[in-house]
Amino acid sequence: MKEELEGLRAQGAQVVPGGVSFSGGWEVCYAANLWSRIASRTLWRVGQFEYGNENDLYAAVRAIDWPDYFRVERTLRVNVTAQKSPLKSLEFATLRIKDAVCDRFRDAGGRRPDVERANPDVRVHAFLEGARGTLYLDTSGEPLFKRGWRAAQAEAPLRENLAAGIVMLSGWRPDEPLLDPMCGGATLLVEAAAMARGRAPGARRAFGFEKLAVFDSALWEKLKREAQGSSSEADLGLYGSDTEPRALAAARRNLAAAGVERWVQLEQADVLERSAPALAGVMVMNPPYGERMGSEEELARFYPRLGDALKKKFAGWRCHVFTADLRLPKLIRLEPSARKPLWNGALECRLYEFEMVAGSRRRKPG
Ligand SMILES: C[S@@+](CC[C@H](N)C(=O)[O-])C[C@H]1O[C@@H](n2cnc3c(N)ncnc32)[C@H](O)[C@@H]1O
Repeated sequence: MKEELEGLRAQGAQVVPGGVSFSGGWEVCYAANLWSRIASRTLWRVGQFEYGNENDLYAAVRAIDWPDYFRVERTLRVNVTAQKSPLKSLEFATLRIKDAVCDRFRDAGGRRPDVERANPDVRVHAFLEGARGTLYLDTSGEPLFKRGWRAAQAEAPLRENLAAGIVMLSGWRPDEPLLDPMCGGATLLVEAAAMARGRAPGARRAFGFEKLAVFDSALWEKLKREAQGSSSEADLGLYGSDTEPRALAAARRNLAAAGVERWVQLEQADVLERSAPALAGVMVMNPPYGERMGSEEELARFYPRLGDALKKKFAGWRCHVFTADLRLPKLIRLEPSARKPLWNGALECRLYEFEMVAGSRRRKPG
């Protein structure tokens, strides 16, 4: 993510717990929202303080000139995340922060903004770490993985930003074939196509920064116009398959909604049976995992057969399997050439790479 932000001319990008901090003007902020494929949200830091109890918290939040940031007509939501905070109730802390923001508005003009939980105009995030608090305004609004193309839900879809990260980590280049043989709703394929075409992931959605007082609509229109001009039309070799007709129907709808269906060939096939669509290429997949998608025993039977299928039919391919099942390398009986830790929400996962070279990389049994 650091590299992605540096590419958007962010200054001082630095990996910090839970994200990457950076500075820059509004152009960098708008560009980060429009172009980041892997961030979940872009937050603007508006205050930092020390506190010991709810009263300190209230006073620190009220000291900020909120009417300078957004108009009283905007609806508001406050989110609080805390780690080792001395406060007893997060709910009460949230209420106090909300009251402090609203009271500041009332002092300034006699009115308070309304609170709206589901679809607020403005989101205030407070992070309380020990006795230190930081306040942010959310410039993204809805999280950035909501790109606006998902038309159909297949089972257990990946989040769009995680899918984009997996494709990036696979090292796939757009001139290589890419296959997802367990494609479900085609999240990986949509993100790969958008990446290869240079499509801005945020081109079709609204953002939180549009509701802030400092919104520069001329600058935003300029960035959106520039984003439209950058798409290339060269051919792509993207392939998807799945055993489930329902998954393929969802994949078709999603690819069409994202406007990338003409670059992706879909077919109904079992990953254990299908052949490779090209002599060499990159495979990405996330097999079913956990109770919801099949029992442990079923998966324990499936993985060795998957290993055999990759070995027999995909020599010359770099195969990437994303899973929360850390037994995978042992069960698939292939030696990973790389294993990259990733988080799917709170679930620790791995992206395993298996370089399929005819006759090698076989893991010794046991
Ligand atoms: C976790 S989902 C994939 C989700 C997908 N990455 C997405 O983001 O939408 C796993 C998919 O594997 C498919 N599947 C299960 N067994 C299969 C097999 N033997 N061959 C091909 N697909 C299979 C399921 O139908 C399901 O759509």
